[in-house]
Amino acid sequence: MEKFVIEGGRKLSGEIRVSGSKNATLPILAATLLTDGICEIRNVPKLRDTWTMCKLLRSLGKTVDLSGNKVRVSGSANNHIADYKLVSTMRGSFCVLGPLLGKLGKAKVSMPGGCVIGVRPVDLHMKGIMALGVKADFDAGYVMAHAPQLKGAQMYLGGTFGSSVLATANVMMAASLAQGETVIESAACEPEIEDLGDFLSAMGAKIEGHGTPRIIINGARKLNGTNYKMGADRIEAGTFLIMAAAVKSDILVQDANYNHLLALIDKLHAIGVDVRKAGNNDVRVKVKKTLRPANIATHPHPGFPTDLQAQYMALMAITPGVSIITDRVFPDRFMHIAELNRMGAQIRRDAGSAIVEGVKQLYGAPVMASDLRASAALVIAGLVAKGRTEIHRIYHIDRGYEDLDRKLTGIGAKVFREKE
Ligand code: EPZ
Repeated sequence: MEKFVIEGGRKLSGEIRVSGSKNATLPILAATLLTDGICEIRNVPKLRDTWTMCKLLRSLGKTVDLSGNKVRVSGSANNHIADYKLVSTMRGSFCVLGPLLGKLGKAKVSMPGGCVIGVRPVDLHMKGIMALGVKADFDAGYVMAHAPQLKGAQMYLGGTFGSSVLATANVMMAASLAQGETVIESAACEPEIEDLGDFLSAMGAKIEGHGTPRIIINGARKLNGTNYKMGADRIEAGTFLIMAAAVKSDILVQDANYNHLLALIDKLHAIGVDVRKAGNNDVRVKVKKTLRPANIATHPHPGFPTDLQAQYMALMAITPGVSIITDRVFPDRFMHIAELNRMGAQIRRDAGSAIVEGVKQLYGAPVMASDLRASAALVIAGLVAKGRTEIHRIYHIDRGYEDLDRKLTGIGAKVFREKE
């Protein structure tokens, strides 16, 4: 295993580039199961999760060539069983359910385990595929599903905590090869769903409304291979904007799609951060004065992203004053509180929220990464802390941030990757 060693307290400056979107790449790779044609996908992030999805596709019969930031997928799916060993390491694998049903008419997919950010139910996935005529049940930790022929249907996919990104993705992919029209009401509106809809359309699917709460899909008899370039990862971009604010530096974040980050940028403006478009898809961040605290509550897109909640908490930990942070998507997504407090933060839980009292200074300490975004929060804290921070179990970071240590070193940070 490896750890990050960070010497904090340094002024950073320069340019940092955002990689391709992890959470768009996973469903788009899964969508290649829908065709026997060749799909060539560029700007794919070099991440553990990308590698895991490619391995899963090979286990399902596809030929997958992954080289650098490019993936070439060809061949036919000939196995409908997504094995526990692979799905349990990455929840995103569950989005092979829809395409396997669309292409093969059957699927046996291991239930995704829970994880540190909270319970990860699949009831909306099941509701969606069953609306398409799928017979589905649970057996020994697997979802067993089959349908001689998928039939389009109208369905409502909203849940207690709002819409589900991957449930929307699963239904879109299955419906692309169903007979007739499918209408998804209360669909997830995340940019990753927009990306998936664009990819499916490039394969010949008839889809409209992706990125809005109402998606209409007219099933096709067959889908074709296509070429596609992944858009930028909005959560990585948002992480860099928050990091730049925390280290109070002048940073140009390249390939950050400003319009995908409006909820975060609005909040950064409110606390006194100068964030502005800087041509193309770049965003410049400057901090000229002491920041003010501001409360947040996360919501499905276009609300404040749950995947940026931990990073924002690290920023509030060193912002004078009190802020209240509530996660309406994953109410228990607070594993990072204990680790930030080890670094001198003053954060406590109260009635489902986190109360953050900003402190003047954080101090380097050995801390433990627990999930992808909590780990990013610890990196931000390590960059601003006085002294040396060691972040253990950084495989969590490698799942979702491409070459993070190299990128941070490029703007003047002292971040070293070392063997445990
Ligand atoms: C996607 O997960 C992302 N993962 C998550 O990012 C992200 O946090 C999440 O969407 C919310 O934005 C990928 O795209 C690979 P959900 P997903 O289904 O689709 C409830 C990261 O750090 N729900 O949108 O699995 C659920 O409990 C990861 O990159 C049901 O109730 O999340 C949650 O409260 C972490 N029933 C809410 O919906 C269901 O059937 C949103 O979950 C499914 C979900």
